[in-house]
Parts: sequence; C-alpha cells; structure tokens
Amino acid sequence: MPATPQDGLDYPLLLQHLDDARTRFDVDWLAECESTNTVLLERAARGAPSGSVLVTDRQTAGRGRRGRRWLSSPDCSLTFSLLWRLPPAISSAGLSLAVGLAVAQALENLGIQGIGLKWPNDIWQHGRKLGGVLIEVAFDHEGLGLIIGIGLNLRRDPEWQHHLDQASAALGDDGAQFHREIVLGSVLRQLAKILDCFGKEGFTPLRDAWCVRNTLLGQAVRISSENGEHLGICGDVAADGALILHVNCGAHLLITSGDVSLAPIQT
Ligand code: BTN
Repeated sequence: MPATPQDGLDYPLLLQHLDDARTRFDVDWLAECESTNTVLLERAARGAPSGSVLVTDRQTAGRGRRGRRWLSSPDCSLTFSLLWRLPPAISSAGLSLAVGLAVAQALENLGIQGIGLKWPNDIWQHGRKLGGVLIEVAFDHEGLGLIIGIGLNLRRDPEWQHHLDQASAALGDDGAQFHREIVLGSVLRQLAKILDCFGKEGFTPLRDAWCVRNTLLGQAVRISSENGEHLGICGDVAADGALILHVNCGAHLLITSGDVSLAPIQT
C-alpha cells in the first residue's frame, strides 16, 4: 500500500482499521477521477491484481445503477471501487446482495444503528438511502474480474438536495462523525470475509443474514424494470438473490432485475 506525502488518505488510520485484512488489499487514492469504477476497469484490463482498491475525493462522472449518475463530494462521501476475482466455478448470482450485506455488517460493527438493505443492493438507514453498490465486469487475461463500486454518504452536502430524486441519509445525521478511513477499513475487512465465503459457496449461506436486514419486507411495493411494472408485497430473497414478490391469490414472482419502491397507498 504506497503512502506518499501528497496522499489525501490517512494510510496509518486505514491500516489500523483494516486489521488482519491489510494484506488482502492494495489501496490507491486519487484526488479526482471520472469514476473509480471506470479507472479500475482500465487497470483490470492492464492486469491489476484482485484486491486492488481505488479511493477518490471527487468523481466527475460518478455512475449509479441503471444509467443514473452518482453524486459525491470530497468532505461528505466515501467513494471507492474494489477489483475482485472469484474462483471460476462460482456463479456471481447474488453477489451484489452479498456486497450490500458486507457494507451493512461493517457499519453495524462500528456501532451504527438503523441500517437496512433494500433489494438489490441499496444500503439504507432509518428508511432513507445511505449508499449504493455498482458492480461491473472486466474480462482480461486472468478471466473474469468484478469491479465493485461503493458510494456512502458520510455527511450531508446541501448541494445534493437540488439533485436527488429520493430521500437520502448520511451517517452524520445521527451525529456520528466517522473518518472515511475508519469506515473504509471496516467495509474492506468485512468484504474480505463475505467475498471469501461467497467464493466458496455463493450467496446461499449469506441469504438469512440478508433477509433479516430486508428493510421493505412485508410492505406493498412497486417493481419497475425494462419488462414493465409489478405491484405486490415484498418478500424475502431466494437462494440465488432473486426477490420474491407476493402477488394475488398466494402466487409469487421471482424478480431478478429492476428497482423497488414503496407502492402508492390505494384510497
Ligand atoms: C446506485 O445506488 O445507483 C449505485 C451507486 C454506486 C456509486 C459508486 S461510487 C464509487 C463507484 N464509482 C462509480 O462511478 N460508481 C460507484
């Protein structure tokens, strides 16, 4: 893990919080880049090893799921991507849920309250979006590489209010002031555990831990996807990470892609 005086990351603090996982990651920092996912995709193509991490203060073209943009700002966000290679025999079904679970558990390990998960991979706090995960795939000479991009709101930036289309949360809302190195160290440490487990057995052993954090469980929801819209009651997730949507007459649908939102109340 290179440390140079101009680095904006406190490496000693990060190493302390990475603890026994410090040998699993190689963390680099950039003051600004287009998107940490984009830069790491390029680095993966040039042969960067599994465990490469890129943290930035500012993204000029941060990307969210389904073509949305992702806002982050230097003092208010933790913005990073991780390159990870899974064993060839393991399917990546459910991986984004596993990553969301690792983030949730890492925040809980720091004593942060009210953390939940919204399918497929939003991290919520007290019913509002705290962070998100964007996973992209890199093919290179080593096979399949996964670029796991994570954005978390540490503090509230007044500028965001003009741009956000949904209610957001920030860790600082509860008065918790965490250095981003502490949050990053905790999240990477938990990611190492969860990705090791996923690399052996996939999502199945992680399913129950995801389900107890399922923030919309039992609520009336609307699923929007390229295949149209479905209304129903949000259920658990299946062993492959699909969301179980309970519809009329005891039937259910297995949802594998789309956005979930609370359904409007019928009057
Ligand atoms: C979402 O909820 O839509 C996913 C947001 C993912 C944002 C992160 S920030 C780091 C990485 N770089 C990006 O451009 N996007 C991801």
